[in-house]
Amino acid sequence: MICVSKNKSNLKLQNLKINGQSPLRGNVKISGAKNSALVLLAASLLTEEEITLTNMPKLSDIEMMKNILKSVGVKFSENIHDKNKLIINSKDLRNGALPFNLVNELRASFFCIGPLLTKLGKASLAFPGGCNIGERPINEHIKGLEKLGASIIKKNGSVTAEINNKKKKLIGTTIKLECPSVGATETLIMAATLAEGKTIIKNAAREPEIQDLCEMLNKMGGKINGAGNSTVIIQGVEYLNGCHHKVIPDRIEAGTFLIAAAATLSSITVKPVIPEHLKSLLKKLEESGSNINVKKDSITIRTEVINAVNIETSPYPGFPTDLQAPFTALMTIAKGNSKISETIFENRMSHIKKLNQMGASITLNENTAFIKGVEKLSGSNLKGSDLRSTAAIVIAALTANDESFVGGLEHLDRGYENFELKLNLLGANVTREYNSFFLNETKESNESEIKTLDKFQAA
Ligand code: UD1
Repeated sequence: MICVSKNKSNLKLQNLKINGQSPLRGNVKISGAKNSALVLLAASLLTEEEITLTNMPKLSDIEMMKNILKSVGVKFSENIHDKNKLIINSKDLRNGALPFNLVNELRASFFCIGPLLTKLGKASLAFPGGCNIGERPINEHIKGLEKLGASIIKKNGSVTAEINNKKKKLIGTTIKLECPSVGATETLIMAATLAEGKTIIKNAAREPEIQDLCEMLNKMGGKINGAGNSTVIIQGVEYLNGCHHKVIPDRIEAGTFLIAAAATLSSITVKPVIPEHLKSLLKKLEESGSNINVKKDSITIRTEVINAVNIETSPYPGFPTDLQAPFTALMTIAKGNSKISETIFENRMSHIKKLNQMGASITLNENTAFIKGVEKLSGSNLKGSDLRSTAAIVIAALTANDESFVGGLEHLDRGYENFELKLNLLGANVTREYNSFFLNETKESNESEIKTLDKFQAA
């Protein structure tokens, strides 16, 4: 019952039929973190020995990343007894040029530039342009690699990075990021692992996925200190070996279920989780009236009232931008007025229009949403335009008076493993439909939106 489709266009022909108003109850198993798994796959390029990753999520983004790595000679074997275990072998890595058509599908594949460059001395990738949630530049990745001694040429929509010194080695240095970019921090950490000498990254991002990356690199023989702080120090080593590593639980998936429980006035337990990773969300949920019980690797939420609270997204440990859309859905039915400010991405408010279509009362001023809580939302036919906005629409539909049809599953399946199955096990009433009535009803809007969906996929 895995919702991974090899064919994205098939997913564009599917939708969820959601009958709202069923309370959620019970335990939900949280999968491995998508954003960790993606960067750990990129890091596996750094060794000729086998890497074994466990707790790998079954997601379309992961399949895409695997296809990209396969195209440069990486081999994968899966364990039939443990579907979430993946063995990666990069010993036959043959070149550092990732094919444009595949890279074009997944923005996160750009993170491969660091390991490919430091391992092979040359890397060439498509230039990741903007995406549905904003411009998403790569200047910090590029500037950092240049400081490490790479020469970079941007031409005809691609970026070629090369090490021109005799030893074909990057040289350790101090890099100060202008903004704490998650991707740039990861690119530069991976690039610096096999560099000559010490690299210091200042103003580094502190997200748990970066800590997970550094933990795996250190198991491989890397020498990295300070992961999770804003200064990370990498002492370059000659060689990295294979290792076994378990992907951390997905804090964004866990957060989405907690918000869904709050929105439906329910009580559920999410497990396994690292509660520390969800601190900023838990604080806001408590402030909004939910009762939260934290144990070592689980969180139980019980909600009887939803009071309006304000949030402003910021880099970790602040409120995650990836939970902004789901939390906005929750605030639409809160008691009182709330203000939600998105500060990380410039175009991450596409859910507002859809929530208003369902009866929410939201006014958008640039990247700040002013929400007047309403009693109830009504079911509607809607289509999400990025991963987290689609999750937000699903949450809104779970609370609605009647039936909703939600499209945009090509986004949803990128980041949520078996989403509707997990919701149904909690008592929701969600059915995946194929070639449904919904699509005929929304054909026109689908066609205009599909044009933007083929761009790089975000977050
Ligand atoms: C990662 C996550 C994504 C999450 C985001 C912020 C993955 C696969 N995706 O994306 O889910 O929403 O972190 O937590 O891990 N920026 C620059 N120059 C750069 C790079 C980034 O100005 O070179 C800016 C971006 O435009 C954005 C901000 O920095 O405004 C944050 O972006 P970044 O942290 O790089 O996000 P990603 O790594 O792409």
